[in-house]
Formats: sequence, structure tokens, C-alpha cells
Amino acid sequence: GVFDSGLGGLTAVRQMHRIMPNENIIYFGDTGRVPYGSRSRKTVLQYARQDVAFLKEHDIKAIVVACGTVSSQVLGDIKRENSIPIIGVVEPTCYAAMRHTKNNRVGIIGTMGTIRSGAYEAKLHTLDPSVHTLARACPLFVPLVENGRFLPDDRVTQLVIEEYLTEMRDFGVDTLILGCTHYPLLRDAISQFMGDDVHLVDSGAEAAEYAHRFLVSAEQRQG
Ligand code: DGL
Repeated sequence: GVFDSGLGGLTAVRQMHRIMPNENIIYFGDTGRVPYGSRSRKTVLQYARQDVAFLKEHDIKAIVVACGTVSSQVLGDIKRENSIPIIGVVEPTCYAAMRHTKNNRVGIIGTMGTIRSGAYEAKLHTLDPSVHTLARACPLFVPLVENGRFLPDDRVTQLVIEEYLTEMRDFGVDTLILGCTHYPLLRDAISQFMGDDVHLVDSGAEAAEYAHRFLVSAEQRQG
């Protein structure tokens, strides 16, 4: 089972189809209530509980929270409340970022809620206390993606990217965490602005890779 506030989590599903083609995936995109990123923690928790309850009606063996907003704010709560394995995007994404960075300067972009939580920075600093981070909320990215405005030659998208990411580029990051699963859909446009030298870490794809490793080792444990 995989869920997100909208179509962003399909970036995780795309990768899951590639690496575990035999798994049946049930996807729930809460397009009726997107975006989650600007809502209070209390509301995000309420929505996350409902999303989990919906997926659990479908005989699933694990849940991938393909949403940076839910993963960074309430993952602990929903894990405690459910015995089924639940995998979020923050940890796998931070591991990938630290594998990639050479200059130890890592940028993080995400929704308001994700950036306010500080979850990505906290995890990066536990992996390497000397890492330099810069985090920036990009609230207009989700509506752009949900409205299909993700092509690199879209003038409006280019302008919004410039507004949000100029500081990030000046900070000299060599690795940029796309901490919201909608953002990989803007990958080409973001990459065009940041330059080829900046590695973009896709939080949905990293969660999918992690879920794959987790399921393989769970199957091995069961013999
Ligand atoms: N794709 C989600 C995330 O990763 C949610 C975006 C939103 O609904 O604001 O944060």
C-alpha cells in the first residue's frame, strides 16, 4: 500500500514497478484534500490515520508513506498505532544524500510542514554532524505539479523555481533533496536551473528502494 496527498507519490510507485514488478500495489492519492503541506500537524495526523485505515482494508503487507509532509511530521505516531510495517521517505532520502555529497553541502526543499518540522536536517545531522544544510519551503511547487505545469520550458514554473532556488544555488549545494514526492516531476526544470553538477535526490524513489530491501529481508527472515 502506498499513499500521498495527490499524484506525487506515484514517483515512488514508478520506481516500485521497476524494481519489484511482481508486487501488487494499491495506491491512494488523496486528491480531494491536497495539499497537506500547508496544514497543521493535527490535521496531517488525522488524514494520515484515515489514509492508513483505507489501505489496511486491502490486505496489504506493508505501507510506504510516499509523502514528505506525513513522513516528516507524524510517521512515529502512525508506526506506533499499527503493527504493519510502515516506511517513510525521510530516512532513506537522507542516507542517499550523504552517499552523494562530496562538498558536504546539502539542500532540502519540501512543503511548509516538512521544512517546519526540521526532520530532514535532524536526520542528516545524525548521519554527519559536520554537514552544512539549507532548507527551503516551496509551497507553489505542488499546485504547479497538480496542474500539469512541470515541463522545463514552462515560463511560470521557471520563474517560481528561480524565486525559490536562487539562494540554494548561491549556497553551493552539490546535492539537493527533493523532500516532497511531487518535486521529482519538476526534476528537469529544477536541474536546468541548478546545473548538471547538482545531484537531485528523489525522495519517492529512495523510499521505494528502501521498501524493496525491507521486503526482501523480511521474506528471507520468514525463510
Ligand atoms: N507529496 C507530498 C509531500 O511529499 C505532499 C504535498 C502536499 O500535499 O502539500 O510532501
